[in-house]
Amino acid sequence: MSSNGNGKVPTGWAQDRVYIFDTTLRDGEQSPGFGLDGEAKLLFAKQLEQLGVDVIEAGFPISSPGDFEACRTIAREVRGPMITALARAVNADIEAVWGAIGDAERPQIHIVLSASDIHIQRKLGLTRSEVIRRGVNAVQFARNLCAEVEYSPEDAGRADRDYLVETVEAMLDAGATAINIPDTTGYCLPNEFGGLIEYVVSNVRHPERAIFSVHCHNDLGLATANTMAGIMGGARRVECTVNGIGERAGNTSLEEIVMLLKVRQGMLGLEHAIDTTQIVPTSLMLTELTGVGVQPNKAIVGANAFAHASGIHQDGVLKDRLNYEIMKPEDVGLDDNRIVLTARSGRHAFRHRLNMLGLTVPEDRMQEAWAGFLRLADARKEVTDADLRTLMA
Ligand code: KIV
Ligand code: ZN
Repeated sequence: MSSNGNGKVPTGWAQDRVYIFDTTLRDGEQSPGFGLDGEAKLLFAKQLEQLGVDVIEAGFPISSPGDFEACRTIAREVRGPMITALARAVNADIEAVWGAIGDAERPQIHIVLSASDIHIQRKLGLTRSEVIRRGVNAVQFARNLCAEVEYSPEDAGRADRDYLVETVEAMLDAGATAINIPDTTGYCLPNEFGGLIEYVVSNVRHPERAIFSVHCHNDLGLATANTMAGIMGGARRVECTVNGIGERAGNTSLEEIVMLLKVRQGMLGLEHAIDTTQIVPTSLMLTELTGVGVQPNKAIVGANAFAHASGIHQDGVLKDRLNYEIMKPEDVGLDDNRIVLTARSGRHAFRHRLNMLGLTVPEDRMQEAWAGFLRLADARKEVTDADLRTLMA
């Protein structure tokens, strides 16, 4: 096992790298309004391969014959990333996963079973030890089929820490090769979640037997912060979705965590294998396939993420992009930033856009042109290039 005292990964996984596990086609696709048919799922899985994700969670095969088929096609046609699919801790689910993804280049069975007392008592009606026994049986059954088995103690964010350690140790002994700690309900604070990961990784007897992963939900808007805290606590795999789609308020957004790793690489010192120029094309493909757009102010992929509208910001960016941009639009697959002309824009941006459009205004007519622009801008949300041409004519 290699360890820098922070992250711990088994042989075969790099210590200084974060592995990206995309669950857009499982946790994302299961949320209302985001359903995709098999053809769309395959198209998107191929785009995820282009993007460079390490793991694709293709679906939940037992849920429907359509999803089983979609997972099977993805497992057969997508090469490169590990392909996984979800099972509850019951043999029928596990067999369905294996039937669906067994043909993948590198298949993994993903098992989920609750770990918090709330779930154990109110959802399962079992005892803690019965849950561990059920989990161990499931992992052993899955390991007889597949070399890679991930175990997710559901609702770990609200579970008792020592019971979580006991659970993880039992699953490692049973042969789990990946342990995923989910904050299923999006309840944790970043320092709490990071501390939980550190506690589990440093208290289980053989952390080197598995890669540790985190899976966060965004109910309180903390999914990305909690995932980052999980990485700091020692996790080296992160489960996330494109555009942050997912159950309820969504999952950790892939583009946010990847750009965090890239922009703050100097601070974090962690690598990833994502081709970031594929981020916007992937986001747009998902929007097109699902028919659901992202909010304009969404980090990284929102329409306004690289747009500058106020005069002060436009002037600063036109003088030097570094004034207001911490990453380059080209790095996420956009051609350029957008200087949006509104009633809050300044003369610098107005002149800049006129120049770009090849519209020259003699200096003695500039005041008149500017006044005309402001009248138009007050009447509209945004002044387009066509508006400017009409105004100048
Ligand atoms: O949120 C959750 O706990 C999950 C598990 C299947 C990892 O989606
Ligand atoms: Zn989830």
